[in-house]
Amino acid sequence: MSKTYRVAILGATGAVGTELLELLESRNFPISDLKLLASERSVGRSLSFKGENLLVEPISDRALENVDIVLASAGSSTSKKWATIAVEKGAVVIDNSSAFRMNPEVPLVVPEVNPQAAASHKGIIANPNCTTILMTVAVWPLHQVKSVQRIIAATYQSASGAGAKAMAEVKTQASAILQGQEPIAEILPYPLAFNLFPHNTPINDFGYCEEEMKMVNETRKIFGTQQIRITATCVRVPVLRAHSEAINLEFETPFSPETAREILSNSPGVKLVEDWQANHFPMPIEATGKDEVLVGRIRQDISHPCGLELWLCGDQIRKGAALNAVQIAELLVEKNLLKPAVAYVSQ
Ligand SMILES: NC(=O)c1ccc[n+]([C@@H]2O[C@H](COP(=O)([O-])OP(=O)(O)OC[C@H]3O[C@@H](n4cnc5c(N)ncnc54)[C@H](OP(=O)(O)O)[C@@H]3O)[C@@H](O)[C@H]2O)c1
Repeated sequence: MSKTYRVAILGATGAVGTELLELLESRNFPISDLKLLASERSVGRSLSFKGENLLVEPISDRALENVDIVLASAGSSTSKKWATIAVEKGAVVIDNSSAFRMNPEVPLVVPEVNPQAAASHKGIIANPNCTTILMTVAVWPLHQVKSVQRIIAATYQSASGAGAKAMAEVKTQASAILQGQEPIAEILPYPLAFNLFPHNTPINDFGYCEEEMKMVNETRKIFGTQQIRITATCVRVPVLRAHSEAINLEFETPFSPETAREILSNSPGVKLVEDWQANHFPMPIEATGKDEVLVGRIRQDISHPCGLELWLCGDQIRKGAALNAVQIAELLVEKNLLKPAVAYVSQ
């Protein structure tokens, strides 16, 4: 009989958590026991898995006992508090938050890009930021052929990137505006319906917000090089689900759009969506619920002989978070990397 695993989802009631639950079921992950963990707020709630209603438990020391894999998606402070405890109790934690991503002892993994990094884990593996995952899946196959010198990214990030409550808030705001009322912003800092605003994470001394610096630093860590120059402008847009990104790549020598198209049409996790006659390219509504990153509008940058432009859309709750995490779990199982953890100490 094939081996089965005891899995816990921490943050099971959230946008990413509910997607994790769906993916574990649809991909038939080998589970012997599944725990759904969240905060005290969710006590009494239940969620359906394989036709059974499972009760959500509040996170506690006890809840983390007898677990092989924790899929954590409950925010950075919750991960900082509970991940090391889970590891000490014998679990491997795949963490969706930013808590451990830049920790040199923690691998930051996109299975299509750097699956080998997972082997060095000491109990915690970090799932990258959603915009970073989507961009690296599309850029890595090109970088394998000619190394990318510089990336200029502009993002168009959906409301659900800020969680389930932010997505609900945009719907309420849209309906209020349509009824002639003032939209109320409680979860997001400003009304997002019929509006957009630069990503609202804290801004550093150079004027870059945290989300932009995640794209810079995490991409370099995943690609295993500090040499790529990266700049990004991240913007929240009133799309419910799936992020979009305009990416400008600069290579050392010209990279023809035809070659890029051929490479990307054969790359794992990428789907080419280009109908130049119909002006049909990736859109968030078509990326929603899909596993692949949709890529199109691949064209020569007319301002630079070695520049290439592309446009992508990806479901950031799925490939940008939950799917990537489940793929890491599948990788650990397949490569037998669920080794007993060496006590993980540094934070
Ligand atoms: N949304 C995305 O597109 C996306 C993409 C990539 C990464 N992420 C990351 O994934 C994580 C979750 O994001 P989300 O969008 O799913 O957020 P969300 O919809 O707000 O859900 C948050 C989840 O965490 C739980 N939680 C919050 N505080 C907790 C605590 N103190 N103890 C235990 N559980 C707690 C919540 O439980 P209750 O229901 O009980 O409050 C809920 O299940 C974040 O770190 C986020 O940065 C999100």
